[in-house]
Amino acid sequence: MSSLFAPIKLGQVELSNRIVVSPMCQYSADDGTATDWHLGHLGMLANSGAGLVIVEATHVTRQGRITHGCMGLYSDDNEAALARIIAHCRRAGTAKWGIQLAHAGRKASSQRPWEGGGALQDGQDPWETIGPSPVPFGPNWHIPRVATADDIARVREAFVNSARRAVRIGFDAIELHYAHGYLAHSFLSPVSNHRTDQYGGSLENRMRFGLEIAKAVRAVVPKSVALGARITGNDWRDDGLSTHDAVTYSMALKAVGLDYIDISSGGITADTRNPTGPGYNVPIAEQVKRETGVATRVVGLITTPAQAESIVSEGKADMVALARGMLDDPRWGWHAAVVLGAEVARVPQYLRAAPKLWAPAAQRRA
Ligand SMILES: Cc1cc2nc3c(=O)[nH]c(=O)nc-3n(C[C@H](O)[C@H](O)[C@H](O)COP(=O)(O)O)c2cc1C
Repeated sequence: MSSLFAPIKLGQVELSNRIVVSPMCQYSADDGTATDWHLGHLGMLANSGAGLVIVEATHVTRQGRITHGCMGLYSDDNEAALARIIAHCRRAGTAKWGIQLAHAGRKASSQRPWEGGGALQDGQDPWETIGPSPVPFGPNWHIPRVATADDIARVREAFVNSARRAVRIGFDAIELHYAHGYLAHSFLSPVSNHRTDQYGGSLENRMRFGLEIAKAVRAVVPKSVALGARITGNDWRDDGLSTHDAVTYSMALKAVGLDYIDISSGGITADTRNPTGPGYNVPIAEQVKRETGVATRVVGLITTPAQAESIVSEGKADMVALARGMLDDPRWGWHAAVVLGAEVARVPQYLRAAPKLWAPAAQRRA
């Protein structure tokens, strides 16, 4: 009996298994509005065999986007386009659907990765960025304007408005992007937050920005929709966030009503280098799960079904997320089910591809 393929409940939302497609920016939106690229891309992932697919970082304001091509959920056009795509994905596949809500902070106003990935230059329509302190992401990056109390209130309200739109679209889960050096993480990390007001200094103060947003969003997201956050479990720098900080933050997020935490890491400065070993975030997730009891997901170089199965069966995390592995093999969940001897839901159009209907057992496990 596979643990990876056992159902799990996040709040009131039941997922058919513990495989999650990690959010992945496509840089293919038009003023935040999803395009036919997303129809094809998300439609493809609807039949990955994952119990939950999380739509890419979707920004709560136009200025909060990473690039000119990033998704947003700040306008009626954004909402209508995404509603159409998610309705299509539900008809086309078996997954449940989540969305990651984000504000890029001092990493906004960037080039698409394939256009250089650095800060937008003059002539590329750059815009002003905000951050907790005037500390750029790295050399040659924009120096953010220091967020005022009004800016902080506006960003919080923008998260709430986008969450309302996500609920209207009918998402099963909403995930706050609190990782990878974007605005909320930059408030949490002492590397980027040098404030002396109630949003800076002690860990308690640095947590305030993310916790206030989480609380305000939870107030408008019904319990029938799971609410979680992706956090940076470690800054991988001596002067940065530690796993212990991740435990404290996860505990506080759980206390304001979040249903799960996803453990990622790194991203606070341009020169941060993450470990490159298989499942490098698993020890962090294991500690967060053990010490907080919150439903925990882990991401980062999880590639094989056996590895994913052992993470869940050994109780190191409750769910696994895959990003690059899902682009490489968009039926990863189907193939994992064969290897682990489990069943996976298929749409009627694809039923005849179920291996037991056409491949001999020995071949199926080869
Ligand atoms: C093309 C691409 C886009 C990504 N966009 C996002 C994103 O929108 N939000 C996010 O939290 N992480 C994003 N990531 C990071 C992944 O979700 C994931 O955490 C990371 O790739 C490690 O997992 P992996 O080893 O399975 O690829 C992106 C990664 C890739 C490859």
